[in-house]
Amino acid sequence: MSLAHDLFARAIQALPAEDAHRAAITGLRAGLGPRSAAPDPALAVEIAGLKLPSPIGLAAGFDKNAEVAAAMLRAGFGFVECGTVTPLPQAGNPRPRLFRLAEDQAVINRMGFNNVGLERFAQNLARAPGGVVGANIGANKDSADRIGDYVIGLERLWGKADYFTVNISSPNTPGLRLLQGADALADLLGRLALARRDLPGAAPVFLKVAPDLADAEIGDIAEAAAAHGLAGVVVSNTTLSRPPGLRSRRRSEAGGLSGAPLMGLSTQVLRRFREAARGRFALIGAGGVASGADAYAKVRAGASAIQLYSALVFHGPGLAPRLGRDLLERMRADGFASIAEAAAAP
Ligand SMILES: Cc1cc2nc3c(=O)[nH]c(=O)nc-3n(C[C@H](O)[C@H](O)[C@H](O)COP(=O)(O)O)c2cc1C
Repeated sequence: MSLAHDLFARAIQALPAEDAHRAAITGLRAGLGPRSAAPDPALAVEIAGLKLPSPIGLAAGFDKNAEVAAAMLRAGFGFVECGTVTPLPQAGNPRPRLFRLAEDQAVINRMGFNNVGLERFAQNLARAPGGVVGANIGANKDSADRIGDYVIGLERLWGKADYFTVNISSPNTPGLRLLQGADALADLLGRLALARRDLPGAAPVFLKVAPDLADAEIGDIAEAAAAHGLAGVVVSNTTLSRPPGLRSRRRSEAGGLSGAPLMGLSTQVLRRFREAARGRFALIGAGGVASGADAYAKVRAGASAIQLYSALVFHGPGLAPRLGRDLLERMRADGFASIAEAAAAP
């Protein structure tokens, strides 16, 4: 890692969380990010027709406006999910709205879908070269037709993103998670399926869910995903729960909790989704991944690909290649020839 990069990484740690994030985006745009060698070919996976050089991806929310996808691919992520983007630009909630919980290796955020809106997002995306880049789409807080917002997002970005993630699990847009309910979800996925029928070509569509789901809800969501031909489910977004044992002063801030304390809960929900999916769609595991061991646990719970965000806050953007190498070692030690084989094993 270069000295400039190292100094930059230290400097941003000293800033308040949201300023640090903005500084990181500025630095990445200026080319100050790390550059990683191509990953070991044994790490390559195919998920829903997408060919990923590594299964370690960047989760949504880091690059909300599709400004640094290329830089994060260069840093060694196997794929990058930009967004959440909403049709209209949105300021999000008042600051402060992003908190580091260092003692817990966790983050609480209540950003509220701050983003530049679809038009600028689409322009930025058009400039992101090479690699697999997904668009995570959402609804404006004040929209009169939230389901319509997802349709607009899909149509506007069709052909510009390699895949789409329908985010109905942010806890920071009041009522959004209600779209996970059986009737609302059938309506949403039905309208998206109709829109896709009229669009040329194909791109996989994933659904991103909360970790705060009862078993019956998991079953309903899995059936709806399969019935509407979704390519996969991303498990999971941040949690509204506060697992016991959190030590940080900021643990009671309102918002979604992510990072280490989310690992157990999100992996358990992932395992339930594997049972409910019965191989009908792919699973992407997110929540608390900070090491090769964590990534491997997601694979063994059914994930064919992994996403992370919070660990970057504590370990910097050079984390992905290290994690990939460690994942590969663990997979080989258990005698698996590929990620797909490990993900399917009981
Ligand atoms: C600051 C912050 C902002 C986020 N914004 C989004 C978002 O806009 N859309 C989304 O689908 N998930 C968002 N997430 C959730 C992450 O994509 C991820 O699902 C979650 O943080 C769990 O992974 P992690 O523990 O590795 O962070 C955000 C997370 C954080 C910490």
